[in-house]
Amino acid sequence: MSRLDSILNAENYAKEDIKFLLDLENPDDIQQLFDAAYKMKCESVSNNVYLRGIVEFSNICSKDCLYCGIRKSNRNVERFQMSEDEIVSAALWAHESEYGSVVLQSGERRDPEFVDFVEKILNRIKSESGGALGITLSLGEQSLETYTRWFEAGAHRYLLRVESSNEKLYSSIHPPECSFENRLLCLDYLKDAGYQVGTGVMIGLPGQTTADLTDDVFFFKERNIDMIGMGPYIPHHDSPMAENDANYDGEAHLNLALKMVAVTRLLLKDVNIAAATALQALKYDGRELGLKAGANIIMPNVSDTKYREGYQLYDNKPCLDENSAQCRGCLTNRVIACGERISFGDWGDSPHFKQRKVSSRSEETG
Ligand code: 5AD
Ligand code: FES
Repeated sequence: MSRLDSILNAENYAKEDIKFLLDLENPDDIQQLFDAAYKMKCESVSNNVYLRGIVEFSNICSKDCLYCGIRKSNRNVERFQMSEDEIVSAALWAHESEYGSVVLQSGERRDPEFVDFVEKILNRIKSESGGALGITLSLGEQSLETYTRWFEAGAHRYLLRVESSNEKLYSSIHPPECSFENRLLCLDYLKDAGYQVGTGVMIGLPGQTTADLTDDVFFFKERNIDMIGMGPYIPHHDSPMAENDANYDGEAHLNLALKMVAVTRLLLKDVNIAAATALQALKYDGRELGLKAGANIIMPNVSDTKYREGYQLYDNKPCLDENSAQCRGCLTNRVIACGERISFGDWGDSPHFKQRKVSSRSEETG
């Protein structure tokens, strides 16, 4: 049996196995990895794809991450903030379109006005959808108190990417005021506040090795993470990091990102994994390839078209000129054409989270 066959047939994976898989170069071997991950997905979470309509409601950001197109120092981007009514109606459109859930994402702000604003929106979405719409937040690092307030207002899932679990690499892509330790603390807060917790990394960062990515996957496992959102790093022309990216190789980044999806599915089994929009920035069917490599979540954009141009974290972002209905038609056709099923109107919570709750309850009752 080849080393690849024996790894793919094993019950458990050591770090060197995961690194071996990430280092695969031969297209047939890589396909074998994707097929194994797809099989694992069908067995552990099924081939139902869950949709989360994403509302990118403001590009006003207090942070200056070196890779990001909406960092506060970027003077070439016009700042916008959707109104309360606009955000709520985008969310209700997602609800009527049977998306089941929404993700609310924006630049990072921690001021009291912002915290109140988000709380109000959550209350409105919950009451105006009759409690039927699931809500994920992706609003960066906050205090435990803020996380708790938003949870109590109706959000039940939260995405906070760690970006890289290697502290040195994390520091190299963030300004000095960004603390890696605080990022980890926030992941703990989110769990304490009761959320299904999602994290993830950027794949193919300058200086990142497959050993780092292996550590990232084990970090997800050790932290008992429920959901994964990760995608390829893509330079943004106005960011400091893009200056060193003249030789950026999109195809290599796409392949490495898909391999990361696959190994994460193999190691973590029952978590939700998003097929990131950034995959589609590198290849027109990148998100479908993500589903075939083990992802089970897609996040169609439901923001009004006029706001899309202002929310480009990386270059080449897809769907800038489309509207929400066009993305719905386009994505549902694509997902179905690649042989997956769509679970309309379903929250699609992470099976891992449900399992985690059962285990902690049985620990409590001894
Ligand atoms: N390339 C890829 N992903 C990016 N993000 C931000 N900038 C980029 C980029 N240039 C991702 C980060 C962040 C998420 C909201 O978007 O991982 O957590
Ligand atoms: Fe937006 Fe295809 S998903 S146009």
